[in-house]
Amino acid sequence: TLTGIIHPSTDGTKLYAAVGSSVSLPCVFSSGLTPSDPIWEKLKPGFLFKPSSGRLPASFSLSSSSSQPLSDKSASLTEVEVGDKGRYRCSGALDGQQLSRNMELVVAKIISSPPSKTSVTLTCDLTDSSEVTDYEWVQLISDLNGSQSVQSVQKGISLSINTESEENQGEWACRFSGKHGILGNVTYHIHTMSGLSGHKSPGSSQNTAVVVGLGFLLLVLLLILAQMYKNHRRRKRIFQFPALETIVHTNSNEREERERNQEKK
Ligand SMILES: *[C@@H]1O[C@H](CO)[C@@H](O)[C@H](O)[C@H]1NC(C)=O
Ligand SMILES: *[C@@H]1O[C@H](CO)[C@@H](O)[C@H](O)[C@H]1NC(C)=O
Repeated sequence: TLTGIIHPSTDGTKLYAAVGSSVSLPCVFSSGLTPSDPIWEKLKPGFLFKPSSGRLPASFSLSSSSSQPLSDKSASLTEVEVGDKGRYRCSGALDGQQLSRNMELVVAKIISSPPSKTSVTLTCDLTDSSEVTDYEWVQLISDLNGSQSVQSVQKGISLSINTESEENQGEWACRFSGKHGILGNVTYHIHTMSGLSGHKSPGSSQNTAVVVGLGFLLLVLLLILAQMYKNHRRRKRIFQFPALETIVHTNSNEREERERNQEKK
C-alpha cells in the first residue's frame, strides 16, 4: 500500500495564483496517519541539491479547521504577492521516517500598456509559463440579476481593448491552460472614458481644488481693487483743497513775472 504524502502526489507540482488572490498549498498525508513535526518551508532559489530555507510570505497561514483530519497539513496564502513565487516544501515524520514534498507557486498578473486615450493593451504575465499552452481573454458580464456570465473574446497572450466604448467597461480575465485543461486566471478592471465621467472619486477632488484656487484668485483681485479705490479716494481728497493750490500757483506766477520784468530792464 502507498503511504506518505498523497496530495500533491508528485514533487514539483505547480500551483497557480493571481496577484492579490488566495491560494491553498496542499499537503495531505495518507488517511489515518498523523505526521510528527510537520513543517512548511519556502526554499530559496538556486540551491538544487542542498536547498536552504527562506522566510515564509506575510500572508502564509496553516489551515486549522476542526473538521480537518490530522493527516491534512495544508497551508494557504491569503493574499498572494509576486515575490511569493517559488518553491515550497512541506515535510513531516511517519514512524521515524522523514517525508517531504516540494511544490512550485506560479504567480500570475496582468501588465497593461501605458494608457492612451483610446485603447489599452493587456498582457498576461506568469512567473513561470513553461506548462502553459494557451491563453484566452474573456469579458465578465453581470446581468441585472447580479449573476455573471463569461464571454470569450480572443485567444493569445495579449489583448487590445478600446477604452472609448462603454461596453468594454468592467472586468476582464486572462485564462491560461495547459495540456490537461485550465490552470488558472487573472482579472483586470477596465475604466472606459464614458465610464469615467460617471465616476466621481478622483476627478471631483481635482475640480474642487480648481474652484478653491479660482476663488482665492478672485479674492486677491478684489483686495487689490479695494486698495486702488482707497488710494483714488485719498488723492481726490487732497484735490478738494484747490484754494491752497491756487495760492501756491499765484505766488510762483507773480515771482516769475517779477523776474521776467527785472530781466527786461
Ligand atoms: C433573472 O433571473 C430570472 C430567473 O432566474 C430569469 O428568468 C431572468 O431571465 C433573469 N434576468 C436576466 C436579465 O438575466
Ligand atoms: C477564475 O478562477 C476562479 C478560481 O478557480 C474561478 O472561480 C473563476 O470562475 C475563474 N474565472 C474565469 C473567468 O475563468
